[in-house]
Amino acid sequence: MTRITDLAGTSDAAITGLLDAAFGPNRHGRTAYRIRLGMAWLTDLSFAAFDADGQLAGTLQSWPVALHTPDGRETPLVMVGPVAVMPDLQRHGIGRALMDRLIETADMVPGDPLVMIGDPDYYGRFWGFTAEATGGWDVPGPVERHRLLTRQAAGIVLPEHGLLGPRTGAVAARA
Ligand SMILES: CC(C)(COP(=O)(O)OP(=O)(O)OC[C@H]1O[C@@H](n2cnc3c(N)ncnc32)[C@H](O)[C@@H]1OP(=O)(O)O)[C@@H](O)C(=O)NCCC(=O)NCCS
Repeated sequence: MTRITDLAGTSDAAITGLLDAAFGPNRHGRTAYRIRLGMAWLTDLSFAAFDADGQLAGTLQSWPVALHTPDGRETPLVMVGPVAVMPDLQRHGIGRALMDRLIETADMVPGDPLVMIGDPDYYGRFWGFTAEATGGWDVPGPVERHRLLTRQAAGIVLPEHGLLGPRTGAVAARA
């Protein structure tokens, strides 16, 4: 039985141990880390999964980021990930439970559009993420274009061009 809770209250050491196990210690060079460089994870959109023994089985973190458009403005976005499950517990529905909780929470009070780098088969199939909006976006590092995904409320049109990076909040503007 998996229990999903807020991530707040889980120690940094436990989170780091889980991420190292899921992604390996070289994960810090990944493009996703550069996009959210210097940001703190969002406590209301980050979650932990615990197994029946109370051991940390999975985590999902979300971060404030923005698309910086050529006109000097920024469109605030929430970057989802890493989503990580202990290797020996993968493919038992824990990742799905974490994402379900995120989407339920995000949809309760619609806020900034979600962006993530992930497998479109997984994140598209269950939660409707697509790469349709991101074809003209730049990111600070290598990315497979079909894995740069967004999910936004109906009617929200995201800018066609811009650079994904940390949010400054200085000149935030909704698209
Ligand atoms: C990717 C990850 C978070 C998925 O969590 P999980 O608990 O292992 O997956 P789930 O059990 O929730 O999977 C649910 C379904 O999605 C499928 N699925 C899981 N990972 C998938 C992937 N990468 N691509 C396509 N389908 C996937 C499963 O087969 C399952 O399908 P089914 O219900 O038809 O059997 C987890 O495997 C993981 O931590 N991987 C390593 C780190 C990583 O790559 N994270 C994602 C990038 S942020």
